[in-house]
Amino acid sequence: MPGTVLIGLQWGDEGKGKVIDHLTGAVDAVARFQGGGNAGHTVVIGPKKFILHHLPSGILHPGKTCIIGPGLVLDPVTLAEEVDVVRSEGLEVEGRLKIDYRTHLILPQHRFQDRWLERRRGAGKIGTTGRGIGPGYEDKAARIGLRAGDLLDPPLWEAKAGPLVEAKRRVLGEEMTADLDLEALLAFRETHGPALAPYICDTVDEVNRLLESGREVLFEGAQGTLLDLDLGTYPFVTSSNTTVGGVFHGAGVAPRHIRSVIGVTKAYMTRVGKGAFPTELEGDQGDRLRDKGAEFGSTTGRPRRCGWLDAVAGRYAVRLNGVDTLGITKLDVLSGLEEIRICTGYKVDGERLEGFDARPSVLSRVEPVLESHPGWGEEIGNAGSFEDLPETCRGYLQRLEAVLGARVGFVSVGPERSQIIEMK
Ligand code: IMP
Repeated sequence: MPGTVLIGLQWGDEGKGKVIDHLTGAVDAVARFQGGGNAGHTVVIGPKKFILHHLPSGILHPGKTCIIGPGLVLDPVTLAEEVDVVRSEGLEVEGRLKIDYRTHLILPQHRFQDRWLERRRGAGKIGTTGRGIGPGYEDKAARIGLRAGDLLDPPLWEAKAGPLVEAKRRVLGEEMTADLDLEALLAFRETHGPALAPYICDTVDEVNRLLESGREVLFEGAQGTLLDLDLGTYPFVTSSNTTVGGVFHGAGVAPRHIRSVIGVTKAYMTRVGKGAFPTELEGDQGDRLRDKGAEFGSTTGRPRRCGWLDAVAGRYAVRLNGVDTLGITKLDVLSGLEEIRICTGYKVDGERLEGFDARPSVLSRVEPVLESHPGWGEEIGNAGSFEDLPETCRGYLQRLEAVLGARVGFVSVGPERSQIIEMK
Protein backbone atom coordinates (compact mmCIF):
# COMPACT_ATOMS: atom_id res chain seq x y z
CA MET A 1 0.00 0.00 0.00
CA PRO A 2 2.54 2.60 -1.00
CA GLY A 3 0.26 5.60 -1.54
CA THR A 4 0.46 8.68 0.66
CA VAL A 5 -2.07 11.49 0.48
CA LEU A 6 -1.26 15.03 1.49
CA ILE A 7 -4.23 17.26 2.28
CA GLY A 8 -4.62 20.87 3.42
CA LEU A 9 -6.56 21.08 6.68
CA GLN A 10 -7.63 24.73 6.44
CA TRP A 11 -8.92 27.04 3.67
CA GLY A 12 -5.96 26.36 1.40
CA ASP A 13 -2.56 28.09 1.42
CA GLU A 14 -1.28 25.84 4.19
CA GLY A 15 2.20 25.62 2.69
CA LYS A 16 1.58 22.22 1.14
CA GLY A 17 4.05 22.86 -1.71
CA LYS A 18 6.94 23.06 0.75
CA VAL A 19 6.04 19.79 2.52
CA ILE A 20 5.44 18.00 -0.79
CA ASP A 21 8.79 19.19 -2.06
CA HIS A 22 10.39 17.77 1.08
CA LEU A 23 8.71 14.39 0.66
CA THR A 24 9.26 14.06 -3.07
CA GLY A 25 12.83 12.80 -2.73
CA ALA A 26 11.49 9.56 -1.23
CA VAL A 27 8.72 8.84 -3.76
CA ASP A 28 8.61 7.73 -7.38
CA ALA A 29 5.68 9.86 -8.51
CA VAL A 30 3.60 12.82 -7.42
CA ALA A 31 -0.02 13.01 -8.57
CA ARG A 32 -2.58 15.81 -8.46
CA PHE A 33 -6.21 14.69 -8.26
CA GLN A 34 -8.43 17.79 -8.09
CA GLY A 35 -8.59 21.54 -8.63
CA GLY A 36 -6.66 23.32 -11.32
CA GLY A 37 -5.09 26.71 -11.96
CA ASN A 38 -6.67 28.07 -8.77
CA ALA A 39 -3.90 26.37 -6.79
CA GLY A 40 -0.64 28.17 -6.16
CA HIS A 41 1.93 25.84 -4.62
CA THR A 42 5.04 27.78 -3.70
CA VAL A 43 8.46 26.17 -3.51
CA VAL A 44 11.56 28.24 -2.68
CA ILE A 45 14.88 26.85 -3.85
CA GLY A 46 17.82 29.13 -3.05
CA PRO A 47 17.16 32.56 -4.54
CA LYS A 48 14.32 31.25 -6.72
CA LYS A 49 10.66 31.05 -5.94
CA PHE A 50 8.45 28.76 -8.02
CA ILE A 51 4.68 29.03 -8.01
CA LEU A 52 3.04 25.98 -9.53
CA HIS A 53 -0.63 26.01 -10.46
CA HIS A 54 -1.16 22.68 -12.22
CA LEU A 55 2.16 20.94 -12.21
CA PRO A 56 2.70 18.70 -9.20
CA SER A 57 5.44 20.13 -6.98
CA GLY A 58 7.49 17.01 -7.81
CA ILE A 59 8.28 18.54 -11.21
CA LEU A 60 11.15 20.42 -9.55
CA HIS A 61 12.83 17.08 -8.75
CA PRO A 62 14.56 15.64 -11.83
CA GLY A 63 13.42 12.17 -12.77
CA LYS A 64 10.16 12.08 -10.81
CA THR A 65 6.96 11.18 -12.61
CA CYS A 66 4.30 13.88 -12.29
CA ILE A 67 0.68 13.07 -12.89
CA ILE A 68 -2.30 15.29 -13.61
CA GLY A 69 -5.22 13.01 -12.88
CA PRO A 70 -8.74 12.90 -14.34
CA GLY A 71 -10.19 14.89 -11.42
CA LEU A 72 -8.52 18.17 -12.38
CA VAL A 73 -9.70 20.94 -14.63
CA LEU A 74 -6.72 21.91 -16.71
CA ASP A 75 -6.08 25.27 -18.33
CA PRO A 76 -3.73 24.63 -21.27
CA VAL A 77 -2.74 28.32 -21.41
CA THR A 78 -1.48 28.43 -17.81
CA LEU A 79 0.03 24.97 -18.08
CA ALA A 80 2.11 26.02 -21.10
CA GLU A 81 3.52 28.94 -19.09
CA GLU A 82 4.40 26.69 -16.19
CA VAL A 83 6.08 24.16 -18.43
CA ASP A 84 8.17 26.97 -19.97
CA VAL A 85 9.35 28.14 -16.54
CA VAL A 86 10.32 24.63 -15.48
CA ARG A 87 12.11 24.00 -18.78
CA SER A 88 14.00 27.27 -18.51
CA GLU A 89 15.48 25.85 -15.29
CA GLY A 90 16.95 23.05 -17.33
CA LEU A 91 14.47 20.49 -16.04
CA GLU A 92 13.11 17.90 -18.44
CA VAL A 93 9.31 17.74 -18.61
CA GLU A 94 8.68 15.35 -21.49
CA GLY A 95 8.53 11.75 -20.40
CA ARG A 96 7.85 12.84 -16.81
CA LEU A 97 4.63 14.82 -17.08
CA LYS A 98 1.52 12.73 -17.67
CA ILE A 99 -1.92 14.22 -18.20
CA ASP A 100 -4.94 11.96 -18.13
CA TYR A 101 -7.01 11.92 -21.30
CA ARG A 102 -10.14 12.28 -19.15
CA THR A 103 -9.03 15.56 -17.55
CA HIS A 104 -11.47 18.34 -18.38
CA LEU A 105 -10.21 21.54 -19.94
CA ILE A 106 -10.63 25.11 -18.83
CA LEU A 107 -11.37 27.31 -21.83
CA PRO A 108 -11.15 31.11 -22.04
CA GLN A 109 -14.97 31.09 -21.80
CA HIS A 110 -14.78 29.53 -18.32
CA ARG A 111 -12.55 32.29 -17.02
CA PHE A 112 -14.84 34.91 -18.52
CA GLN A 113 -17.90 33.24 -17.01
CA ASP A 114 -16.24 32.97 -13.58
CA ARG A 115 -15.42 36.68 -13.46
CA TRP A 116 -18.74 37.69 -14.98
CA LEU A 117 -20.65 35.76 -12.34
CA GLU A 118 -18.53 37.14 -9.50
CA ARG A 119 -19.14 40.71 -10.64
CA ARG A 120 -22.86 40.11 -10.50
CA ARG A 121 -22.96 38.31 -7.18
CA GLY A 122 -22.59 41.59 -5.31
CA ALA A 123 -22.69 40.93 -1.56
CA GLY A 124 -22.93 37.18 -2.23
CA LYS A 125 -19.50 37.13 -3.89
CA ILE A 126 -17.50 33.97 -3.28
CA GLY A 127 -14.18 35.61 -3.96
CA THR A 128 -13.09 33.03 -6.52
CA THR A 129 -9.63 33.06 -8.05
CA GLY A 130 -11.16 33.94 -11.43
CA ARG A 131 -9.47 30.92 -13.03
CA GLY A 132 -12.71 29.47 -14.40
CA ILE A 133 -12.79 26.56 -11.95
CA GLY A 134 -16.51 26.54 -11.08
CA PRO A 135 -17.69 26.94 -14.70
CA GLY A 136 -15.22 24.24 -15.85
CA TYR A 137 -16.60 21.73 -13.34
CA GLU A 138 -20.14 22.82 -14.26
CA ASP A 139 -19.62 21.80 -17.88
CA LYS A 140 -18.14 18.51 -16.73
CA ALA A 141 -21.21 17.78 -14.59
CA ALA A 142 -23.48 18.89 -17.45
CA ARG A 143 -21.64 16.38 -19.67
CA ILE A 144 -20.74 18.93 -22.30
CA GLY A 145 -17.10 19.47 -21.29
CA LEU A 146 -14.08 19.16 -23.55
CA ARG A 147 -11.36 16.88 -22.25
CA ALA A 148 -7.60 16.67 -22.73
CA GLY A 149 -7.94 13.56 -24.90
CA ASP A 150 -10.29 15.44 -27.26
CA LEU A 151 -7.38 17.70 -28.19
CA LEU A 152 -5.81 14.74 -29.97
CA ASP A 153 -8.83 14.05 -32.13
CA PRO A 154 -9.72 17.04 -34.39
CA PRO A 155 -13.01 15.58 -35.77
CA LEU A 156 -14.17 14.73 -32.23
CA TRP A 157 -13.19 18.20 -30.99
CA GLU A 158 -15.17 19.77 -33.80
CA ALA A 159 -18.14 17.49 -33.18
CA LYS A 160 -18.19 18.45 -29.49
CA ALA A 161 -17.36 22.15 -29.87
CA GLY A 162 -20.49 23.11 -31.84
CA PRO A 163 -22.98 21.60 -29.36
CA LEU A 164 -20.95 23.05 -26.47
CA VAL A 165 -21.26 26.56 -27.88
CA GLU A 166 -24.94 26.05 -28.53
CA ALA A 167 -25.70 24.57 -25.12
CA LYS A 168 -23.89 27.33 -23.29
CA ARG A 169 -25.48 30.11 -25.32
CA ARG A 170 -28.90 28.61 -24.70
CA VAL A 171 -28.43 28.26 -20.96
CA LEU A 172 -26.30 31.29 -20.18
CA GLY A 173 -27.58 33.82 -22.69
CA GLU A 174 -25.76 36.18 -25.03
CA GLU A 175 -23.99 38.40 -22.54
CA MET A 176 -22.30 35.67 -20.53
CA THR A 177 -21.19 33.83 -23.64
CA ALA A 178 -19.89 36.92 -25.44
CA ASP A 179 -16.42 35.37 -25.40
CA LEU A 180 -17.56 32.03 -26.74
CA ASP A 181 -16.93 31.61 -30.40
CA LEU A 182 -16.76 28.40 -32.42
CA GLU A 183 -13.88 29.59 -34.61
CA ALA A 184 -11.85 30.54 -31.54
CA LEU A 185 -12.57 27.16 -29.99
CA LEU A 186 -11.30 25.36 -33.08
CA ALA A 187 -8.20 27.55 -33.10
CA PHE A 188 -7.71 26.74 -29.39
CA ARG A 189 -7.29 23.08 -30.26
CA GLU A 190 -4.88 23.86 -33.05
CA THR A 191 -2.66 25.79 -30.64
CA HIS A 192 -2.87 23.63 -27.56
CA GLY A 193 -3.40 20.17 -29.04
CA PRO A 194 0.13 19.75 -30.40
CA ALA A 195 1.64 21.37 -27.29
CA LEU A 196 -0.09 19.00 -24.89
CA ALA A 197 -0.01 15.88 -27.08
CA PRO A 198 3.27 14.48 -25.69
CA TYR A 199 1.83 14.38 -22.19
CA ILE A 200 -1.67 13.01 -22.71
CA CYS A 201 -2.15 9.37 -21.75
CA ASP A 202 -4.02 7.04 -19.41
CA THR A 203 -2.72 8.09 -15.99
CA VAL A 204 -5.17 5.86 -14.15
CA ASP A 205 -3.46 2.86 -15.65
CA GLU A 206 -0.05 4.40 -15.00
CA VAL A 207 -0.69 5.22 -11.35
CA ASN A 208 -2.18 1.79 -10.65
CA ARG A 209 0.76 0.04 -12.28
CA LEU A 210 3.13 2.05 -10.12
CA LEU A 211 1.23 1.20 -6.94
CA GLU A 212 0.84 -2.47 -7.87
CA SER A 213 4.58 -2.76 -8.41
CA GLY A 214 5.31 -1.33 -4.97
CA ARG A 215 6.35 2.16 -6.07
CA GLU A 216 5.69 5.14 -3.82
CA VAL A 217 3.14 7.67 -5.03
CA LEU A 218 2.40 10.94 -3.25
CA PHE A 219 -1.07 12.35 -3.94
CA GLU A 220 -0.90 16.12 -3.73
CA GLY A 221 -4.08 17.82 -2.55
CA ALA A 222 -4.82 21.40 -3.58
CA GLN A 223 -6.86 24.01 -1.69
CA GLY A 224 -7.96 22.72 1.72
CA THR A 225 -10.57 20.71 3.60
CA LEU A 226 -12.77 23.70 4.46
CA LEU A 227 -13.04 24.51 0.74
CA ASP A 228 -14.34 21.01 -0.12
CA LEU A 229 -17.45 21.21 -2.30
CA ASP A 230 -19.40 18.78 -0.10
CA LEU A 231 -17.79 19.01 3.32
CA GLY A 232 -16.55 22.60 3.42
CA THR A 233 -18.17 25.92 4.20
CA TYR A 234 -20.55 25.81 1.21
CA PRO A 235 -21.18 27.96 -0.80
CA PHE A 236 -17.86 29.64 0.04
CA VAL A 237 -15.91 26.69 -1.30
CA THR A 238 -14.19 25.57 -4.45
CA SER A 239 -15.87 23.21 -6.93
CA SER A 240 -13.92 20.02 -6.26
CA ASN A 241 -13.44 17.50 -3.47
CA THR A 242 -10.35 18.64 -1.64
CA THR A 243 -10.61 16.00 1.06
CA VAL A 244 -9.12 12.53 0.98
CA GLY A 245 -12.05 10.97 -0.91
CA GLY A 246 -11.14 13.09 -3.93
CA VAL A 247 -8.13 10.85 -4.51
CA PHE A 248 -10.16 7.79 -5.33
CA HIS A 249 -12.09 9.20 -8.26
CA GLY A 250 -9.73 12.09 -9.03
CA ALA A 251 -6.74 9.83 -9.55
CA GLY A 252 -8.56 6.52 -10.11
CA VAL A 253 -7.07 4.53 -7.24
CA ALA A 254 -8.68 2.29 -4.64
CA PRO A 255 -8.56 2.94 -0.87
CA ARG A 256 -6.41 -0.14 -0.24
CA HIS A 257 -3.49 1.61 -1.94
CA ILE A 258 -3.40 4.43 0.61
CA ARG A 259 -1.02 3.85 3.49
CA SER A 260 -1.04 7.23 5.19
CA VAL A 261 -2.62 10.64 5.17
CA ILE A 262 -0.60 13.73 5.97
CA GLY A 263 -2.59 16.81 6.96
CA VAL A 264 -0.90 20.17 6.55
CA THR A 265 -1.87 23.15 8.64
CA LYS A 266 -0.27 26.49 9.28
CA ALA A 267 0.60 27.30 12.89
CA TYR A 268 -2.12 29.97 12.54
CA MET A 269 -4.93 30.36 10.03
CA THR A 270 -5.65 32.25 6.82
CA ARG A 271 -8.46 32.56 4.35
CA VAL A 272 -8.73 34.25 0.97
CA GLY A 273 -12.09 34.96 -0.54
CA LYS A 274 -15.31 35.39 1.35
CA GLY A 275 -16.94 33.37 4.08
CA ALA A 276 -16.99 33.06 7.86
CA PHE A 277 -13.69 32.94 9.74
CA PRO A 278 -14.27 32.62 13.51
CA THR A 279 -10.69 33.30 14.62
CA GLU A 280 -9.98 36.16 12.20
CA LEU A 281 -7.83 38.95 13.65
CA GLU A 282 -8.50 42.42 12.45
CA GLY A 283 -6.23 45.41 13.00
CA ASP A 284 -2.58 45.23 14.10
CA GLN A 285 -2.49 41.57 15.11
CA GLY A 286 -3.86 40.42 11.76
CA ASP A 287 -1.57 42.82 9.89
CA ARG A 288 1.44 41.49 11.76
CA LEU A 289 0.72 37.89 10.76
CA ARG A 290 0.05 38.97 7.16
CA ASP A 291 3.28 40.95 6.91
CA LYS A 292 5.57 38.48 8.64
CA GLY A 293 3.98 35.49 6.92
CA ALA A 294 3.87 37.25 3.49
CA GLU A 295 0.22 36.28 3.36
CA PHE A 296 -0.70 37.40 -0.12
CA GLY A 297 -2.33 34.98 -2.58
CA SER A 298 0.20 33.23 -4.82
CA THR A 299 -2.37 32.94 -7.62
CA THR A 300 -4.19 36.26 -7.29
CA GLY A 301 -1.93 38.44 -5.09
CA ARG A 302 -4.90 39.18 -2.81
CA PRO A 303 -4.12 39.89 0.87
CA ARG A 304 -5.10 36.89 2.96
CA ARG A 305 -7.26 37.25 6.03
CA CYS A 306 -5.30 36.04 9.08
CA GLY A 307 -6.21 34.67 12.50
CA TRP A 308 -5.37 32.24 15.29
CA LEU A 309 -5.34 28.52 14.66
CA ASP A 310 -8.84 27.11 14.86
CA ALA A 311 -8.57 23.66 16.43
CA VAL A 312 -12.32 23.02 16.17
CA ALA A 313 -12.09 23.25 12.38
CA GLY A 314 -8.74 21.44 12.59
CA ARG A 315 -10.19 18.44 14.45
CA TYR A 316 -13.00 18.26 11.89
CA ALA A 317 -10.42 18.18 9.09
CA VAL A 318 -8.25 15.58 10.86
CA ARG A 319 -11.27 13.36 11.36
CA LEU A 320 -12.68 13.67 7.82
CA ASN A 321 -9.38 12.88 6.20
CA GLY A 322 -8.19 10.24 8.69
CA VAL A 323 -4.99 12.21 9.16
CA ASP A 324 -2.24 10.25 10.86
CA THR A 325 0.59 12.75 10.53
CA LEU A 326 0.48 16.51 10.79
CA GLY A 327 2.72 18.93 8.93
CA ILE A 328 2.84 22.28 10.74
CA THR A 329 4.01 25.13 8.55
CA LYS A 330 5.09 28.73 9.10
CA LEU A 331 5.83 28.20 12.78
CA ASP A 332 8.56 30.85 12.45
CA VAL A 333 5.92 33.49 11.69
CA LEU A 334 4.79 33.29 15.32
CA SER A 335 8.31 34.04 16.69
CA GLY A 336 8.37 37.33 18.59
CA LEU A 337 4.76 37.20 19.75
CA GLU A 338 4.33 37.46 23.50
CA GLU A 339 1.14 35.48 23.47
CA ILE A 340 -0.24 32.93 21.01
CA ARG A 341 -3.84 31.78 21.07
CA ILE A 342 -5.63 28.64 19.90
CA CYS A 343 -9.36 28.32 19.43
CA THR A 344 -10.45 25.15 21.23
CA GLY A 345 -14.22 25.62 21.19
CA TYR A 346 -17.12 27.61 19.78
CA LYS A 347 -20.04 29.32 21.47
CA VAL A 348 -23.22 30.53 19.81
CA ASP A 349 -25.56 32.75 21.78
CA GLY A 350 -23.66 31.82 24.94
CA GLU A 351 -24.12 28.06 24.36
CA ARG A 352 -21.15 25.83 23.72
CA LEU A 353 -21.28 24.10 20.30
CA GLU A 354 -20.22 20.50 19.97
CA GLY A 355 -17.85 20.17 17.05
CA PHE A 356 -17.60 22.09 13.81
CA ASP A 357 -20.68 23.45 12.07
CA ALA A 358 -19.96 24.02 8.38
CA ARG A 359 -23.02 26.20 7.76
CA PRO A 360 -21.93 29.79 7.08
CA SER A 361 -25.10 30.98 8.84
CA VAL A 362 -23.87 29.34 12.06
CA LEU A 363 -20.13 29.76 11.55
CA SER A 364 -20.47 33.51 11.02
CA ARG A 365 -22.08 33.82 14.46
CA VAL A 366 -19.77 31.65 16.56
CA GLU A 367 -17.59 33.16 19.22
CA PRO A 368 -14.26 31.40 19.46
CA VAL A 369 -13.19 30.07 22.87
CA LEU A 370 -9.50 30.92 22.93
CA GLU A 371 -6.76 29.53 25.12
CA SER A 372 -3.53 31.37 25.66
CA HIS A 373 0.06 30.19 25.22
CA PRO A 374 3.29 31.96 26.01
CA GLY A 375 5.20 32.93 22.86
CA TRP A 376 8.94 32.80 22.21
CA GLY A 377 11.26 35.64 21.32
CA GLU A 378 13.93 33.77 19.38
CA GLU A 379 13.92 33.31 15.61
CA ILE A 380 13.73 29.56 14.88
CA GLY A 381 14.74 29.44 11.21
CA ASN A 382 17.99 27.60 11.99
CA ALA A 383 16.45 24.90 14.19
CA GLY A 384 17.36 21.48 12.84
CA SER A 385 15.48 19.38 15.37
CA PHE A 386 12.63 19.53 17.85
CA GLU A 387 15.18 19.90 20.66
CA ASP A 388 16.59 23.06 19.04
CA LEU A 389 13.25 24.85 19.42
CA PRO A 390 12.59 27.11 22.42
CA GLU A 391 10.71 25.42 25.25
CA THR A 392 7.50 27.41 24.79
CA CYS A 393 7.57 26.63 21.06
CA ARG A 394 7.87 22.91 21.80
CA GLY A 395 4.97 23.29 24.22
CA TYR A 396 2.89 24.93 21.49
CA LEU A 397 3.54 22.00 19.12
CA GLN A 398 2.64 19.49 21.83
CA ARG A 399 -0.56 21.36 22.49
CA LEU A 400 -1.38 21.30 18.76
CA GLU A 401 -1.00 17.52 18.75
CA ALA A 402 -3.39 17.27 21.69
CA VAL A 403 -6.07 19.59 20.35
CA LEU A 404 -5.91 18.38 16.75
CA GLY A 405 -5.68 14.70 17.64
CA ALA A 406 -2.76 13.64 15.46
CA ARG A 407 0.98 13.35 15.73
CA VAL A 408 3.22 16.10 14.32
CA GLY A 409 5.60 14.67 11.73
CA PHE A 410 6.99 17.77 10.02
CA VAL A 411 7.51 21.35 11.09
CA SER A 412 8.42 24.08 8.64
CA VAL A 413 10.45 26.91 10.18
CA GLY A 414 11.10 29.09 7.13
CA PRO A 415 10.46 29.34 3.40
CA GLU A 416 13.70 27.66 2.26
CA ARG A 417 13.70 24.05 1.13
CA SER A 418 16.08 23.14 3.96
CA GLN A 419 14.04 24.80 6.72
CA ILE A 420 11.97 21.81 7.71
CA ILE A 421 12.24 19.61 10.79
CA GLU A 422 11.31 15.97 10.61
CA MET A 423 10.13 14.76 14.00
CA LYS A 424 11.48 11.49 15.33
P1 IMP B 1 -12.32 29.03 -7.03
O1 IMP B 1 -11.66 27.74 -6.64
O2 IMP B 1 -11.45 29.91 -7.87
O3 IMP B 1 -13.68 28.81 -7.59
O4 IMP B 1 -12.56 29.87 -5.67
C1 IMP B 1 -13.48 29.44 -4.67
C2 IMP B 1 -12.94 29.75 -3.28
O5 IMP B 1 -11.79 28.94 -3.03
C3 IMP B 1 -12.49 31.19 -3.08
O6 IMP B 1 -12.71 31.55 -1.73
C4 IMP B 1 -10.99 31.12 -3.33
O7 IMP B 1 -10.28 32.17 -2.70
C5 IMP B 1 -10.68 29.78 -2.72
N1 IMP B 1 -9.48 29.14 -3.29
C6 IMP B 1 -9.40 28.49 -4.47
N2 IMP B 1 -8.16 28.02 -4.65
C7 IMP B 1 -7.46 28.34 -3.56
C8 IMP B 1 -6.13 28.09 -3.14
O8 IMP B 1 -5.32 27.42 -3.82
N3 IMP B 1 -5.77 28.60 -1.93
C9 IMP B 1 -6.65 29.28 -1.15
N4 IMP B 1 -7.90 29.52 -1.49
C10 IMP B 1 -8.32 29.06 -2.68
